[in-house]
Amino acid sequence: MKTDTPQPVYLKDYRPTDFVLETVALTFELGETETTVTSQLRFHRRPGAAADAPLHLDGDALTLVELAVDGEPVASERYQQSGPGLVISGLPAEAAFTLSVTTRINPTANTQLLGLYRTNGIYSTQCEAEGFRRITFFPDRPDVLAVYTVTIIGCKKTEPLLLSNGNLIEKKDLGDGRHMAVWNDPHPKPSYLFALVAGDLAVIEDHFVTASGRNVKLEIYVEHGKEGRAGYAMDSLKRSMRWDEERFGREYDLDIFMIVAVSDFNMGAMENKGLNVFNDRLILADPQTATDDDYERIEAVVAHEYFHNWTGNRITCRDWFQLSLKEGLTVYREHEFSADQRSRPVIRINEVRFLRSNQFPEDGGPLAHPVRPTQYLEIDNFYTTTVYEKGCEVSRMIATLIGRDGFRKGMDLYFERHDGGAVTIEDYLKCFEDATGRDLTQFSLWYHQAGTPVITATSQYDPSAKTLSLTLGQSIPPTPGQTDKKPMHIPIRTGLIGANGEEIEPVSVSGGERTGDVLHLTRASQTFVFEGIASKPAVSLNRDFSAPVRVSYDQPVAERALIARSETDPVARWDAANGLALQALCQMSRALQAEEAAEADETVARVLLAFAADETLEPDYRALALTLPSETDVARELGENVDPEAVHEARQILAAAIAKAGGTLFARLADEMRDTGAFSPDAASAGRRALRNIALSYQARISDDPEPLLAAYKQANSMTALIGALRILVSGFADTPAASEALADFRTRFAGEPLVLDKWFSAQAAIAGEEALERVKGLMRDAAFNSGNPNRVRALIGAFAASNPTGFNRADGLAYDFYADFLLDMDKRNPNLTARLMTSMRSFETLEPIRRARARSAIERIAEADGLSRNLRDIVNRMLKN
Ligand code: BES
Ligand code: ZN
Repeated sequence: MKTDTPQPVYLKDYRPTDFVLETVALTFELGETETTVTSQLRFHRRPGAAADAPLHLDGDALTLVELAVDGEPVASERYQQSGPGLVISGLPAEAAFTLSVTTRINPTANTQLLGLYRTNGIYSTQCEAEGFRRITFFPDRPDVLAVYTVTIIGCKKTEPLLLSNGNLIEKKDLGDGRHMAVWNDPHPKPSYLFALVAGDLAVIEDHFVTASGRNVKLEIYVEHGKEGRAGYAMDSLKRSMRWDEERFGREYDLDIFMIVAVSDFNMGAMENKGLNVFNDRLILADPQTATDDDYERIEAVVAHEYFHNWTGNRITCRDWFQLSLKEGLTVYREHEFSADQRSRPVIRINEVRFLRSNQFPEDGGPLAHPVRPTQYLEIDNFYTTTVYEKGCEVSRMIATLIGRDGFRKGMDLYFERHDGGAVTIEDYLKCFEDATGRDLTQFSLWYHQAGTPVITATSQYDPSAKTLSLTLGQSIPPTPGQTDKKPMHIPIRTGLIGANGEEIEPVSVSGGERTGDVLHLTRASQTFVFEGIASKPAVSLNRDFSAPVRVSYDQPVAERALIARSETDPVARWDAANGLALQALCQMSRALQAEEAAEADETVARVLLAFAADETLEPDYRALALTLPSETDVARELGENVDPEAVHEARQILAAAIAKAGGTLFARLADEMRDTGAFSPDAASAGRRALRNIALSYQARISDDPEPLLAAYKQANSMTALIGALRILVSGFADTPAASEALADFRTRFAGEPLVLDKWFSAQAAIAGEEALERVKGLMRDAAFNSGNPNRVRALIGAFAASNPTGFNRADGLAYDFYADFLLDMDKRNPNLTARLMTSMRSFETLEPIRRARARSAIERIAEADGLSRNLRDIVNRMLKN
């Protein structure tokens, strides 16, 4: 475990290595508790490097067995095990040499799931970001690229399957019950893309013919008996491969592409070259066990990891500060793919919701950092929603500034110029500048300034001049280490909507650049004057969420309702309605907290129900319109002195008002949207199921009879319908016989299906109220719970902390104490996951004073504990900074 005194890594300290790595040959002799790794590294000194500069290799939790240069053992005075790494001196000044290093590791004891680990009889690896150094001593950094040849020796019986990156070049029986496979990956790659998998798994096979006619073998490996659940992932893979050819001109570059699904995995999935490793929850799906959300997620993640083959693997990061270069861009590519596969507006709205409820709080709290950070203590902690989702939005804004064709040209240049390289965000931006001539100097601040910009808007209509003046101001709140911010280049797509709902096109616009409907905000404050406007319009700001900003605009409710009714941009339409609901929920929460009466505004119900009733709209979109902002969204919007009870209560009142006003509509929808015929996971069918589920949930809000839901549960013919009914039952009718019956049924029916039981855990972890903590503790004693498996931990403990605001934030602070105990214990086994779970308390300072103090003391207790991992220490220290 990394418990050394942490030294920050600074971007400004970057320099290339003194030695150039040419090739890597690795041999693994697999053993459950003792695996021997022999590595042969061919190096030469980089021209210009000092003739006596030593070679620095990273290492972590390794036992060194042998060290030799060109076959000669290295004398002990020529090397030093410095901390966890290795420093070797006296190496040839000019000639190339081969370093051989033999290390011993214990895959079974590896509970961190970083490096080579063995769970459920399967050996697998996770090397990003710094896991390769847990396999062998190595220059474990992304700018060291080499061609790898990998020999794996394992037992024929327990490891019939021996996989690594690239192409299989040899397989042979060793005669002693063991066999051997040799893999070669012709594409130079950094160590973080290395992978090895060994064990006994089933495979489903397919193939793909590339645009230029090459045949690529496709293989997905899953647990025996689960073959029937890998079809959707395979289909998603083929669609991804085709899409990248058509949209970005990118073909796959090996003869085989493999995916392995494993059940113990810290993250979602990993893009190792030619051998992706996935958390099995993101591969396995069938109608009985997977929800529509699961299908959608599988499609997106398979695509994401596949798209990394070009954005990440062929062109990688110079250093980890550039992480968004591959992750932000690949999320953007993945989103575009999903938008092309499904409903573009629905995909976009879900992105906006995710960004607001995850990235905005990060950007506004103690863990805020720029998309490209300048320092870190632990890189694992920078795989954040800022690097991913805000990074994605930055690429999306580039596309908005230079147009879709301009973006394609810039990407073409990027691939042409940097293929095979390890590059920076500056290199990336330069390609768009060079391809289109657009200056992105000011725009590049999006990578460097943390914090969500706030756009303040005021508008004034002059009837005699027939002009509309729109003044936009921008400011970015201070964030840790950054107090002064400069104005950025912000593309705000803006529409003017006339009183009859028609779009008004101005004769001209002055005050700044306007391209199409994009207003280019570049100064701290700027007034755009729209000429030739016959009557006072409603201003629709930030259409399609063109910039990841908060908009502060004191707009009359009637204007927002008009936009919600008439905007041609479906995202802005939804946003106007959602904004009305959010505003109402904030007002009601404040009133309840002040012990005043809170009544639901009728306009909100009317606006939302109009969406729900409009049959010209797609069902999924109607379902989204009916989805109220979450309690966490309201808390974020309130920003300070949050009382989770008041927020919960406000949301209950508004939801009940909508349920009442929409009674007949919901009854009709619950009936009409019922699935008939065979299950299909397509977006349109999924949308109907979503609309039905939300109609049922509203119906339940004003009923005291759980029986219809129990009936819906019993009749369900898909997991979406089944878990939908179960969630409504347990949240609306907790502890009634009907809820208990359904819960018990579900538990028995899916006794052998851990991934399905995760849904059962999560549904119960999210039940609001004081009893939640005891319920969660009880569920931890369930035989299906396993605190060593990240999926189980996230499903129960993670869901409790992240999606049960009243239960987790109970006023006596006991849930915080429980969480602290749990995390302290888990930190000893899996620091990466622990630190990630810790971040769900990052907004604790926005709570009302009593809860805030209790949360703080629980976090302080963690900070003061002995032997914290570097991961967890970094997070709690930053959370406690002010
Ligand atoms: N490269 C990452 C996996 C990763 C994340 C490795 C953190 C090491 C540390 C992969 O491409 C990824 O981003 N996976 C995401 C899912 C993706 C669809 C956003 C994940 O694992 O959550
Ligand atoms: Zn990724």
